[in-house]
Amino acid sequence: MKRLHVIYFSPSGSTEKVVKAVASEFPGMPVETINLLTSASRKKSYTFGHDDIVIFGMMTAGKLFTLSDEIFACLHADGTPFVGIITFGNGYYGIALNEMLSRAKAQGFKAAALGAFVSRHSMDTAIAEGRPDSDDMKKIHEFGKNACAKILGGDYELHTLPVTNWSSWDMGNKVIAYREEHPDEAYALPSSCKAKEITDACIKCGTCVRNCPVDAIDIDAKTFDTEKCIGCWGCINRCPKHAIISTSKEVAEIMRSFGEASTKRLEPEIFI
Ligand SMILES: Cc1cc2nc3c(=O)[nH]c(=O)nc-3n(C[C@H](O)[C@H](O)[C@H](O)COP(=O)(O)O)c2cc1C
Ligand code: SF4
Ligand code: SF4
Repeated sequence: MKRLHVIYFSPSGSTEKVVKAVASEFPGMPVETINLLTSASRKKSYTFGHDDIVIFGMMTAGKLFTLSDEIFACLHADGTPFVGIITFGNGYYGIALNEMLSRAKAQGFKAAALGAFVSRHSMDTAIAEGRPDSDDMKKIHEFGKNACAKILGGDYELHTLPVTNWSSWDMGNKVIAYREEHPDEAYALPSSCKAKEITDACIKCGTCVRNCPVDAIDIDAKTFDTEKCIGCWGCINRCPKHAIISTSKEVAEIMRSFGEASTKRLEPEIFI
């Protein structure tokens, strides 16, 4: 009997939804869920063997998101089959799947299936609004079913390799040009894009504090540690009172041009 491990880093919740839908197509196995959002969860070590299957998902920004070093460093496998999932906001996912493949291999996994799925853009939820929608969910479940059949059939090899889809994207802004020129650097949002404010709508429920991946929020002082903040947009999207707002003019401009450039509906991409 195989054991299923469902692992995700999902600041605003879309990746978690996709990963869990894929996992639902692996029936009848004991399931362990590992949410790597908090700093405490990433201080632990997780080891997997031959009788395990790992389904792993992470958000992207043209590459794997900040903290990918830390996230993969706590996962250790010994030939364990791996189903890798990324989500992106209908723009481009660049080298994220290639990066995931090489990081998973380096940690001892055998990648059996990879998928890139469009989700609403966490920095501007009007972009790719409502996604993953019902068409996406059908493809996500089909991906899960095929990955499960492949792994249970003993085939842990990836027969189609992910492509780098950076060149298909021509938004022409500085941030993307920088990422393209520095593919080996971990993704880091420029400090100028991290400016945020907590408004009087805050009821001090603590949701943002509990879910900040890097413990950057002081809710009593209503301040953010911009050195620590990675700009994941989780606090903004999870706040039940919409009390956290981005005050960065640079972000507003980036998202305006991103919105103009991403009007064409992109579809999920599967490598299996
Ligand atoms: C700082 C930041 C940068 C992003 N960059 C991109 C990008 O370059 N291309 C893209 O398509 N989506 C981009 N996104 C959108 C996310 O990849 C997408 O919304 C993802 O589904 C969020 O996952 P989550 O809901 O699990 O946090 C970015 C999001 C953030 C917060
Ligand atoms: S999640 Fe929103 S309401 Fe709750 S403490 Fe944070 S800012 Fe305040
Ligand atoms: S403070 Fe920064 S790192 Fe923390 S949840 Fe908000 S955007 Fe993410």
